[in-house]
Amino acid sequence: DIAVLSRKGSQLVKDYREQKERIKAQKKEWELAGTKIGDILGIKQKEEDEPLKEGDDSHKKAQQFSGHMMGDKSEAVSSFATSKTIKEQRQFLPIYACRDELLGILRENSVMIIVGETGSGKTTQLTQYLLEDGYGDYGMIGCTQPRRVAAVSVAKRVSEERGCKLGDEVGYAIRFEDCTTKETIIKYMTDGILLRESLREPDLDGYSVVVMDEAHERSLNTDVLFGLLRDVVARRNDLKLIVTSATMDAEKFSMFFGNVPIYKIAGRTFPVDILFTKNPCEDYVEASVKQTIQIHLQPTPGDILIFMPGQEEIEVTCGAIGDRLEEVDGAPPLAILPIYSQLPSDLQAKIFQKAPDGVRKVIVATNIAETSLTVDGIIFVIDGGYCKLKVFNPRIGMDALQVFPISQANANQRSGRAGRTGPGQAWRMYTENCYRSELLATTVPEIQRTNLATVVLLLKSLGVSDLLSFHFMDPPPQDNILTSMYQLWVLGAFDNVGNLSVLGRQMVEFPMDPAMSKLVLVACEMGCSEEVLVIVSMLSVPAIFYRPKGREEESDAAREKFQVPESDHLSLLHVYQQWKNKGYSSTWCNTYFIHYKAMKKVREVHSQLLEIMEKQKLEVTSCGNKWDIVRKCICSAYFHQAARLKGIGEYVNARTGMPCHLHPTSALYGMGYSSDYVVYHELIMTSKEFMQCVTSVEAEWLAELGPMFYSIKESVHSIEEGKAKAAERRKQMEQELAEAEEALEAERERR
Ligand code: CDP
Ligand code: MG
Repeated sequence: DIAVLSRKGSQLVKDYREQKERIKAQKKEWELAGTKIGDILGIKQKEEDEPLKEGDDSHKKAQQFSGHMMGDKSEAVSSFATSKTIKEQRQFLPIYACRDELLGILRENSVMIIVGETGSGKTTQLTQYLLEDGYGDYGMIGCTQPRRVAAVSVAKRVSEERGCKLGDEVGYAIRFEDCTTKETIIKYMTDGILLRESLREPDLDGYSVVVMDEAHERSLNTDVLFGLLRDVVARRNDLKLIVTSATMDAEKFSMFFGNVPIYKIAGRTFPVDILFTKNPCEDYVEASVKQTIQIHLQPTPGDILIFMPGQEEIEVTCGAIGDRLEEVDGAPPLAILPIYSQLPSDLQAKIFQKAPDGVRKVIVATNIAETSLTVDGIIFVIDGGYCKLKVFNPRIGMDALQVFPISQANANQRSGRAGRTGPGQAWRMYTENCYRSELLATTVPEIQRTNLATVVLLLKSLGVSDLLSFHFMDPPPQDNILTSMYQLWVLGAFDNVGNLSVLGRQMVEFPMDPAMSKLVLVACEMGCSEEVLVIVSMLSVPAIFYRPKGREEESDAAREKFQVPESDHLSLLHVYQQWKNKGYSSTWCNTYFIHYKAMKKVREVHSQLLEIMEKQKLEVTSCGNKWDIVRKCICSAYFHQAARLKGIGEYVNARTGMPCHLHPTSALYGMGYSSDYVVYHELIMTSKEFMQCVTSVEAEWLAELGPMFYSIKESVHSIEEGKAKAAERRKQMEQELAEAEEALEAERERR
């Protein structure tokens, strides 16, 4: 036993020494890499290895920075954030050495592309440099993010760096949450917000600079903004546009804006060992958990970052790591921290906090930690190999979040997270062969895989009459555009030649998907807008009820108290009304297993919607207790998502015959109340296709409100007939569209 132990012991010491040697070697290499700071691609074509000339400023700066890292590694890694002042931290970032050069280029060009590794300081520093350079004097400095979480956390960080209150000089805006004031100069926002702002101000007059951050993500809204901003920059010569990317797709961006300069911020990364599994692993969660425990039980310090596709997998992983660790005697402490977009923001902030001395952190994240958020001190990355993507699912006729293998580009970004503060390791839970032959090189841009209804509606109202020839960097498949136009026509937003109807024009004003906007507008006509606004607000906040472990029955019983047997929508309304009657109390929420924070958010959304109603001069009226009107109203916006009863809890889609099920948490489930027809808010696919948020409707309503799909003599025959009719109408519309297109084409040629 003694022999074995000592061999183990010496092995650990050996590993430790080797590790130290490696770090030393890396530091040297890093020092060398540091001298490359300031190197510009596309403007000054410098040879990769060409030594910098004497007197070159960036060289001096680089040396100065390397100095910071020459101390002990542990100091550089773990106490860096606490031991340096904010000013020192800012000056330490790779982007700092390029500050003046960057500003110089921007003075000469109205558009530029900036490429830099994640963590080089693009998001937090650029806006501040622009402010310091005077761009804030005649307009706002806007910075767009594809993710809400990133917009909020970055704005917080920058306001701290500037020593101001969040919302004053530095603020943020995300959907239903505007944290800016008249004083705000640096404004972080989601790309969706800027897109909507362009509705009011097509030339974005309020801004002197727009930074389109994280462009490599290629989010749907960013892609649309690209097309719009390209024209805005051409019209306004006082507007500057900066596009940033963490990857090498910069050439493409540059070409798109007319061959604009690309500036590359030289990164300071350490090498990362990439380790694949030998055999394909059956369960990537299990494999990741095992790997985490293994890493944690060895003495090398450094935090761990695990990539998982979504909230559920993250929760499972966090739980499993905790359980496994309990089984190990004398295991060192480990702080297990989840991060995903729906996590409450105070918990999100935890990942940035330093763990107590001697405690290792393990962060379990979605691909939000790939490029949008940077956590210092990560040495180990565990890559599960999957992510969640929104894709249009033709089976259910709408977008669904589905788990997909990541792309090679994702994999490399993930691995890169391990090499920011020291040499790292990336453990990939898939084989090398899988990486090479099965993963796509890059992810398909969102615009090419999702439903475009919201975007099409927006572009139409911006006066883009000819959608098929809008300047997209990567155009969506024509079929997708046509399908979206068809859906908008079904909802009444378009007339038969694809022009925006009055209803369509009003729908654009609400920052929601077209069906929800229509719900609100129809409610105004039917005199139940007060009720519907509450329902819509409740629907925009996920998870109102919670179901704690060990108290499942109790919480289910509480939920049932609020259920209105014929409708989940009305049940939501009921909850809100009760809460309002109790003075919006938090104790009331706790009693009934209702998330107080979620309800507060609902209230905020509700008041924002009221503001829009007021601006649009739409009346808020109540139908009192005549809730049947509300059901009919819901039917008029969701008739395209109707289902017919087949058995207990079993339905089939009224148009396609595809089976779909009531969710066990639905008010209609097992209440002895069965409705022949229902409409649903959305379909989620887990073990089965479940309808989420269901309301029973009358057959006559479907026929009255959705005549293109349903007629009243419903029989086996007429389903087929209905389908044929719908196909015919669709064909007719497409033909009319094609004719309109041709006319446009002829018009263009004539011009
Ligand atoms: O945008 P980019 O990835 O180039 O870097 P960044 O987000 O500006 O991050 C620069 C530095 O700020 C990193 O070292 C982050 O760790 C730090 N940061 C932070 O401490 N807290 C935040 N909420 C955001 C960034
Ligand atoms: Mg960034």
